Amino acid sequence: MPEHTTVAIIGGGPAGLLLARLLHRAGIDCVVLESRDRAYVEHRQRAGILEQSTVDVLRASGAGERLDREGLPHDGVELRWAGRGHRIDFPALTGGRRVWVYAQTEIVKDLIALQLAEGPPLLFEAQATAIKSLDTDRPTVHYVHHNTEKTLTCDYVIGCDGFHGVTRQTVPDAAITTFERSYPFSWLGILADVPPPSDELIYGHSPRGFALASMRSRTTSRLYLQVPNGTDPDAWPDERIWEELDARLELDNGRKLERGRITQKSVLPMRSFVTEPMRYGRIFLAGDAAHIVPPTGAKGLNTAVADVVVLARAFDRLRRTGSTEQLDAYSTTCLRRVWRAEHFSSFMTSTLHTDPEQSPFATRLQIAQLERIATSAHAAAELAENYAGPPIA
Ligand code: APR
Ligand code: PHB
Repeated sequence: MPEHTTVAIIGGGPAGLLLARLLHRAGIDCVVLESRDRAYVEHRQRAGILEQSTVDVLRASGAGERLDREGLPHDGVELRWAGRGHRIDFPALTGGRRVWVYAQTEIVKDLIALQLAEGPPLLFEAQATAIKSLDTDRPTVHYVHHNTEKTLTCDYVIGCDGFHGVTRQTVPDAAITTFERSYPFSWLGILADVPPPSDELIYGHSPRGFALASMRSRTTSRLYLQVPNGTDPDAWPDERIWEELDARLELDNGRKLERGRITQKSVLPMRSFVTEPMRYGRIFLAGDAAHIVPPTGAKGLNTAVADVVVLARAFDRLRRTGSTEQLDAYSTTCLRRVWRAEHFSSFMTSTLHTDPEQSPFATRLQIAQLERIATSAHAAAELAENYAGPPIA
């Protein structure tokens, strides 16, 4: 393990691992420090919708082989409310764009396998504890690896350590502004051994609360139910989950969901959060360390990927020309896409969820919005363009 590297990457989630891969292929030295062990990182359940641009980046980085074999291309989603469904056709509304279903946890497995085989160094159970000498051109990352304190000096530190990571906390409060919204509900996430109810995702609005039918494969469903904050997953026995999904995703024809063995249940909080700028001196923040979206628009992973692509290109430019121009533009470049994703995720969340305090007036407005999407190609195209995502700037 080197004591110095050009780019120290803190966090081995999808942002840190993909950044390492992109830098390595551009011939730039880097090291990834990940606080958890490999099994933990590889089994964390996260969302699973990839924009076309995310798929293109993974393929170009050499990490697309299994994605091409096992990923499921999707050309639309269904919005369901008041007993009926409306399909949004992505290619027709966006000039040919689509999304892919491939779980984030599978991307993480693919990237870890590649990195362990080809480099750069990836240390598990290596927890960054402090970043020092921030005002010099040699910042130092202090970390604990298997109970031993170590240091790594570098030219740049990239915080890919998620919302609770140490890197953002290292930046002086006065140097960044944060913007935040929390929501008065959470999601109960469910994994079940049963084919998904439809070939495409179903986003359901119901006075009982939001429901989403997604998938991990043709034989495994990923399902979500809006639940109150602080919900204990054990308060949701399997029978109650299936009944509630049926009630919230009900069609006029009364068809029920096929049931199967539930293998996992967990509660996810919903939050919108942005840090500005995404940089402090030689520290750069990427992915969840810099911004969080509620999962309703499936933007979290895609925004993280866009960040590290911009960052990798900027480091490549620096290496080739000595110019920091692209690095200096990193935050501004990324924040444009971040705020678009924030807006869309917030729009999807507020249109589809039922706030516990919600007035009947507000519910009528949600229905009016959904009717608008179902009857106007412009309104549907607005949703489709956002869902399929823009190219990376
Ligand atoms: N030292 C080293 N590693 C750390 C530290 C630390 N002090 N703190 C956190 N980490 C690690 C975590 O264990 C985790 O593996 O940083 C990683 C951060 O990964 P993610 O939370 O997956 O964040 P990111 O890579 O930005 O991915 C964004 O994750 O939350 C979803 O919706 C989000 O899909 C998006 C994606
Ligand atoms: C998922 O499959 O986990 C998923 C899909 C779409 C979302 C959120 C999560 O909007």
